[in-house]
Amino acid sequence: MSKIGLFFGSDDGNTEFIAARIAKRLGEDQVDILDIADVTQLDFLDYDKLILGIPTWDFGQIQSDWEEFWDDIEAVDFSGKTVAFVGLGDQFGYGEFFLDAMGLLHDVVIKTADRIVGYWPTGGYDYDASKAEVSGEALFVGLALDEDQQAELTSDRLNQWCQQIHAEFELASPLNEITD
Ligand SMILES: Cc1cc2nc3c(=O)[nH]c(=O)nc-3n(C[C@H](O)[C@H](O)[C@H](O)COP(=O)(O)O)c2cc1C
Repeated sequence: MSKIGLFFGSDDGNTEFIAARIAKRLGEDQVDILDIADVTQLDFLDYDKLILGIPTWDFGQIQSDWEEFWDDIEAVDFSGKTVAFVGLGDQFGYGEFFLDAMGLLHDVVIKTADRIVGYWPTGGYDYDASKAEVSGEALFVGLALDEDQQAELTSDRLNQWCQQIHAEFELASPLNEITD
């Protein structure tokens, strides 16, 4: 029960690759990576610490495999669990809808989750609107990554965010700082 469950959906592979890069930092033996296309609600029972990775597609829409799982995710009981989010998007190409899917997923999970961690500053991004913003605060609901426009910043952002959630998840295992 002490392992982290990292659930992701990915159309083009970017979020899948990010999942692997997070696991490298937190320890590959500490993280189970699960494709949302292959899981059932029961898989969520195995973890009390979760990272949910979701890209936004098609003008503010949820990635297709997450979309197919949406009724199930609404039925998952996250009580007793600590949850963090990672969102991927394109701030210049889709600046009116930047990371919207991460915000929509957060809105579902927060209804039952005990604790959300991994909030992340909105500074350093250039976009018009996002459903992933925490209302009234200069924060996203989770780590914001942009492999289309700011891929060169991803490695440092991952190191910083993993350090943050290593503390927030209260992990005893060592944290690996990696340049990748
Ligand atoms: C057709 C298309 C639509 C997209 N729509 C959005 C969007 O509405 N908001 C956003 O932030 N990013 C959008 N993106 C960017 C993707 O979220 C981004 O490329 C992401 O890294 C894809 O992740 P994946 O490879 O894991 O599916 C879009 C990309 C494409 C090609």
